[in-house]
Amino acid sequence: MWNTIYGWLDERIGFNDLYKSILDRAEPKGNWWNTLGSATLFLFVVQAVTGIFLTAYYTPSPDHAYDSITYIMNGVAFGWLIRGIHHWGATVMVVLVFVHMLRVFVTASFKYPRELTWLIGVGLLLLTLGMGFTGYLLPWNQRSYWATIVGTQIAGTVPFIGSFVLRALRGGPDLSALTLQRFFSAHIWMLPVALGGLIGIHLYLVIRHGESHWPRRDD
Ligand code: HEM
Repeated sequence: MWNTIYGWLDERIGFNDLYKSILDRAEPKGNWWNTLGSATLFLFVVQAVTGIFLTAYYTPSPDHAYDSITYIMNGVAFGWLIRGIHHWGATVMVVLVFVHMLRVFVTASFKYPRELTWLIGVGLLLLTLGMGFTGYLLPWNQRSYWATIVGTQIAGTVPFIGSFVLRALRGGPDLSALTLQRFFSAHIWMLPVALGGLIGIHLYLVIRHGESHWPRRDD
């Protein structure tokens, strides 16, 4: 019966063709270094799932943000686990993105025809760092508050447009409720949507060009 249902759906949706073009393709004999992009992708999904759970209790306002996090840690069933995974997942994701980029650099996989895959990767690196920066403020504790003061001040030193960047990030000259709201919006909507879109293009290019082989003596 399942075969009939699957056959009926496949005829209309084309699961088999999708499976063949996306997953069932010849890959060069890689090693563990070739799995780092997929490991980063896995963490992106983990961060999305745990982040969605966290928004069920987190409140992005200066009066309630800290208390809502305390409640997630102490009052919500497995809240400590979900927050812990999200917290450490963010750190591990940043490390993995860097090591993945380093591997691509060392094996010279950014060369023709993968220049665009590399450039999209640069966007992914910046967006991942942006996720870390915006997420850091959300607990609204002393450390996150002062770290964001310093971080936004650094952004404010960009030549010519510095003061505009600082005001745009903070939503005014100082850190306020508007900053928290802005960072929250960027953290759960703007940056993840951009990250998801760029990951889609990145993976399309990886599938289109296939993975590079490790450089040989005659390359
Ligand atoms: C969210 C971040 C990222 C994700 C999810 C991701 C995902 C992937 C995946 C799944 C692959 C297939 C091969 C592998 O796993 O090594 C790959 C390859 C590649 N990535 Fe990334 N990547 C990310 C960030 C970056 C960054 C920061 C760069 C460089 C600036 C980069 C450049 C490349 C290039 C050039 C390839 C092709 C490598 C080859 O053909 O050997 N990626 N990426």
